[in-house]
Amino acid sequence: METRCADPDLSVPEAVDLLVVDAAELVTCRTAPGGARGADLDRLEIIPRGAVAIRGGRIVAVGTTEELRRTFRADTVLSAAGRVVSPGLVDPHTHLVHGGSRHVEWEHLLANRPRSIDDGIRTTFEHTAAASAELLRARALADLDVALHHGTTTLEMKSGYGRDRAVEMRLLEVAAGLRDHPVDVVSTFFGAQVLPSEFRGRSGAFIDSIIDMLPEAATLAEYCDVCLDPIGFTLAECTRLAEAAREAGMGIRVHADQTGCAGGAGFAADIGAASADHLDYASEADLRKMAASGCVAVLVPGVTHHLLELIPGAGGGTPTLPVKGFLPSLVAKMVELGVCIAVSTDYNPGTSPTLSMQTAMQLAARLFRLSYAQVWHMATINAAKSLGRDHDRGSLEPGKIADLVVWQVPEHGMVLNRFGTNLVDTVIRAGEVVARNPVGSGAWGEERSLTPTT
Ligand code: NIG
Ligand code: FE
Repeated sequence: METRCADPDLSVPEAVDLLVVDAAELVTCRTAPGGARGADLDRLEIIPRGAVAIRGGRIVAVGTTEELRRTFRADTVLSAAGRVVSPGLVDPHTHLVHGGSRHVEWEHLLANRPRSIDDGIRTTFEHTAAASAELLRARALADLDVALHHGTTTLEMKSGYGRDRAVEMRLLEVAAGLRDHPVDVVSTFFGAQVLPSEFRGRSGAFIDSIIDMLPEAATLAEYCDVCLDPIGFTLAECTRLAEAAREAGMGIRVHADQTGCAGGAGFAADIGAASADHLDYASEADLRKMAASGCVAVLVPGVTHHLLELIPGAGGGTPTLPVKGFLPSLVAKMVELGVCIAVSTDYNPGTSPTLSMQTAMQLAARLFRLSYAQVWHMATINAAKSLGRDHDRGSLEPGKIADLVVWQVPEHGMVLNRFGTNLVDTVIRAGEVVARNPVGSGAWGEERSLTPTT
């Protein structure tokens, strides 16, 4: 993005700190309150030759460049000519802080000898316990840099790889210490991800031990995640934990129905959870409850891709993965029922080792057969809604925090059509330029796509 220091025209009435002008497409992702649902998912607001005026880290105005130039003068004017400008991406589901890598386990999956997800998580318990707080912090900061350079400005992070209280609190403390990074981190306590081996046969006692951690966890985390899934805990256990977390003042998120139908989606709706995530095996009745409750469905296309879930028998031999319903049909059903849907990376070392929301968006379009407009809403305003942040981010609107991404391409569909390279040009967080991509910028210039001929 080209930076110009303006010669402020003092005849123009209102001074702002920064004007971003001449965007080929300004994709606002502005929706009715509560996010985009149903047919509204396809109504993406785009302002050609768009501009944004920013003062004190907040958006003052959004409109055409012509309009804003008439009203605002600024010391700094950034030209986004030939580029898309969008809200900063919001990643509503990651397991950011952890130790180790599980790439060896993944090669077994390629050879049709998959390990179970819960055993994989227990491996990461060990890797994480072996990592010092300093190492975990250094890795988390490096990972946040990667997320930021791929367009993420707000990111949820869960603990959950602590096999005991000391490690769980270390993970939450590391997360709390990430406040100096430009990416805004929202913390979630996920103490009850899977049952540690030493509690085998004593899941009730394990849930008691997690409930004991809640007063301390609630000082460090805004949400508590519970796992209502065959690899997690029972409805009664999740209810007990979620109610205690609520008492401790925390919001609820749910890993729901990832490996089998456990009623997780209906539970999340009934208990007033902010989100139910994964949902591969959610029943239609439970999705109806979600639509009625406003609980956000958080999709994890990275998992679908990485675990080869749409490729039966990948690697040859007998398919060994659970046969799921056809996920594009499930997502189409969510849209039809009016569920508020978001997209996330689910960044973790086992099922989805990617930090790029760009990649998650590209996979969501491909694997779930979603339109460009649907995916843009899901990765911005709807993701912000799932974190209770849609009042101040997730769309380009006056009053919201000025979190923006300038893309190297001139049309929003190109961000989803292309894959495998970073298309970010510049990231602006609370009105400040915090990341610039040193390669690839600007090659498209003013080139526009032609209407296809048949
Ligand atoms: O995909 N509890 C659930 N599932 C995690 C698995 C993480 C891992 O494999 O380490 C998830 O979100
Ligand atoms: Fe997850």
